[in-house]
Amino acid sequence: MNPIFDFDTPIDRRRVPGEKWGRYAGRDILPLWVADMDFAAPPPVVEALQRRLDHRVFGYTDAWPGLVEAVIEGLARDHGWRIEPDWLVWLPGVVTGFNLACRITGEAGDEVLTATPVYPPFLAAPGNSDRRLVTRPLAFADGRWRWDRDAFEAALSPRSRLLMLCNPHNPVGRVFDRDELRWLADLAERHDLTICSDEIHCGLVLDDDAPHVPIAALDASVAQRTITLMAPSKTWNIPALYCAFAVISDSSLRRRFRHAMHGIVPHPNVLGMVAAEAAYRDGGPWRTALLDYLRGNRDIVMAAIDTMPGIEAARPQATYLAWIDCRGARLEDPAKFFEAAGVGLSDGAPFGMPGFVRLNFGCTRTLLTEALERMRQALGS
Ligand SMILES: Cc1ncc(COP(=O)(O)O)c(C=O)c1O
Repeated sequence: MNPIFDFDTPIDRRRVPGEKWGRYAGRDILPLWVADMDFAAPPPVVEALQRRLDHRVFGYTDAWPGLVEAVIEGLARDHGWRIEPDWLVWLPGVVTGFNLACRITGEAGDEVLTATPVYPPFLAAPGNSDRRLVTRPLAFADGRWRWDRDAFEAALSPRSRLLMLCNPHNPVGRVFDRDELRWLADLAERHDLTICSDEIHCGLVLDDDAPHVPIAALDASVAQRTITLMAPSKTWNIPALYCAFAVISDSSLRRRFRHAMHGIVPHPNVLGMVAAEAAYRDGGPWRTALLDYLRGNRDIVMAAIDTMPGIEAARPQATYLAWIDCRGARLEDPAKFFEAAGVGLSDGAPFGMPGFVRLNFGCTRTLLTEALERMRQALGS
């Protein structure tokens, strides 16, 4: 029998510093923006942290065999992906990882290709290393976001070096299927691109018929050109514990990646590593219960959006994020409009797609229902 986990009882986040609730401190605005959930971390994670705190000594710590084993077994169990211990490079965060990927591919002025909308730090990363960002929009057709294959092919140039992929995708919630991944991998092979695949949301697939496939798991030749970035942070809701990792099977790519880290990128926090081990080893039952709860929340979001005039959204296959098209409602600034109505959403413009907002449904059903009702009323529906 699965233990019962409580996702319904609200935990007051106003009493501790934090971005999500802190932004609207003292104002009656429900925060459904930044990508963390309002739920307590899984009990085995909290217990492992408590046990480690009881030791009371927090010296410098490298990844230990039990941690490496928990990650390797977790990736094999949850995604059918078999990796070697040597392929792992520990990082304090995934954003660090994709900025490093930009820095080690090509030289200043070379091009980095990605699709919009996308998690905003993707759009800043190439410029941080003097690379040139090239974007093409994903296409929306038949209720689903897809790659516009012709537009992507046409966007490539002799200076293209890196393809930045987000899968499962923030913000559109797609889990790219084998056919789409094969096409991307072939494109990378034809143009000799390195692939940086941010798979931080891979534990949050809601649709059973859309399993997450790491692009590097397609075959050894794709793996050779790929830097995969993962973390326990989104799935088990521990983002501020700062522990992530890259999986890089090619030794020369891995050497370049590690070299770029020297003297700049710190080790992950020891408590983050303790939490990661517990999450990958013992976080399965909690994750199963979480996904059930999120599926229920997704249904509530989709049903509410159906009643809102001029508002549309594709049903996310993964994540706790809904990417909402407000263009039909002719709102001058949708995020500001909903904020004035008491709901804090993420503005689509920094994702490269103005006219949209992103709603985070990783919260209690009571809060979600209240927020959606405020949105509905604001739209006069
Ligand atoms: C796609 C994606 N990548 C990376 C991150 C952040 O990763 P980190 O906090 O490990 O740098 C997020 C957070 O929302 C995200 O959605």
